[in-house]
Amino acid sequence: MSDNREQWGSKLGFILAASGSAVGLGNIWKYPHMAGQNGGAAFTIVYLVCILIVGLPILLGELAVGRNTQLSPVGAFTRLAKGSNWKWVGFLGVASAFVILSFYGVVGGWTLRYTIYSLFGGFESLSGNPDASGEVFNNFISSAINPIIWQLVFMAVCMGIIIKGVKLGIEEGAKIMMPLIIIILGVLVVRGLTLEGGSEGLNFLFKPKFSDLTPSSIVLALGHAFFTLSLGMGTMITYGSYLDKKQNLINSAIWVILLDTAIAMLAGTAIFTIVFAMGADPSAGAGLIFVVLPTIFPQIGGGLVWGTLFFFILFMAALTSAISILEVITAYFIDEKGWSRQKATLLFGGVITFVGVFCSLSMGSFNITTALDISFFDFLDELSSKYMLPIGGALTGIFILNKWGIGLFLDEIKIGMEHINLDWNFVKNISNILFIVSALIVCLIIFNELTALVLGISLQEMAGL
Ligand code: TRP
Repeated sequence: MSDNREQWGSKLGFILAASGSAVGLGNIWKYPHMAGQNGGAAFTIVYLVCILIVGLPILLGELAVGRNTQLSPVGAFTRLAKGSNWKWVGFLGVASAFVILSFYGVVGGWTLRYTIYSLFGGFESLSGNPDASGEVFNNFISSAINPIIWQLVFMAVCMGIIIKGVKLGIEEGAKIMMPLIIIILGVLVVRGLTLEGGSEGLNFLFKPKFSDLTPSSIVLALGHAFFTLSLGMGTMITYGSYLDKKQNLINSAIWVILLDTAIAMLAGTAIFTIVFAMGADPSAGAGLIFVVLPTIFPQIGGGLVWGTLFFFILFMAALTSAISILEVITAYFIDEKGWSRQKATLLFGGVITFVGVFCSLSMGSFNITTALDISFFDFLDELSSKYMLPIGGALTGIFILNKWGIGLFLDEIKIGMEHINLDWNFVKNISNILFIVSALIVCLIIFNELTALVLGISLQEMAGL
């Protein structure tokens, strides 16, 4: 460990940066429509259980590995398991970061474009017309140049913040953006709830409909628990590596989970109260945000402001997540190759942006994965969220159980908790069970996806569910 390795400036700064990583498109865009379509509160309950039994152990595991070694994933696994193949889990994380950021940066560009588009009154002409809005959206994402320009701007901002460093860039950025996201979301929730008929949206999102809950929605909830907490590619190892030994990791992990969950619920509330009040289609799925919302914002008083604020928080949420993804790569080249922060960020941020250009083009006429019958954009999305992240997460769990050992893991957790009286034997037993359960569950998801891929039918379909 080098003496001048950067560290977070404060506990609050770390919690905001880590929750900034967690809070992203997953919370504001994915969670609301998934919950809406899969049984409302019934889905939310399953999702919360998944967060607690799968998310919390792996999150703590990643933070502990990072803080213990003060290294990013490749170095961390190498240090804790010398001469073994575990370092490949670290490399898998770096590879996942490449894959994810390539398409995440493209969507980040869309959020920026929609913020500006709303600000200049662009939604006005879409009012009450989902067909026109769908056309505008499709024309935009499939055009050759326009989305790429926005993607370049988004990636440039992301790189600019990373180059400033852990404390002055990532932490300061999160300290500004996270409170803004929370405050603006709060205002949007109040706006939604005070619209006539808005409370219908609450029923849709929070009333449990257990009949809508299928086994595949359970698999969905599990996968999402993982994605939303940024697990499985060493993001939290990297962020944990900038922590000092004074912090209580359990307390920090719980804060990150609480903020992440609260923001997902607030986003769902804001979106569905507005959707219901305006009589729009709540089951629009993935197109809800970019297609349906622009048609209803102009219909509410001060719609220009609300629409702009909404896309602005979506942009900030995407940005703080993108930063955490790029930091995994930057930290690898700083730690393992001795590169400067600036060189690593510019070079690999540039490469990722370049790959991202092909993702963007694949929504239009130029797709390099036509042979696979899928757009390059979807290909990278599925590759990472269905395979790379769950595999990385399961291996991290197995690493802690089998290689590092629950005992050493807990020794790391104990640091910063000296003043708290806990029955550590009990904690050890619980941790053992949790890690086994979470690794098993994640393996099951991966197996399910693989059978679906190879045999064309997933396990749950085979079981007739
Ligand atoms: N958690 C983010 C979201 O909800 C996405 C994200 C950021 C992520 N870093 C990650 C996902 C690392 C997996 C791994 O949108």
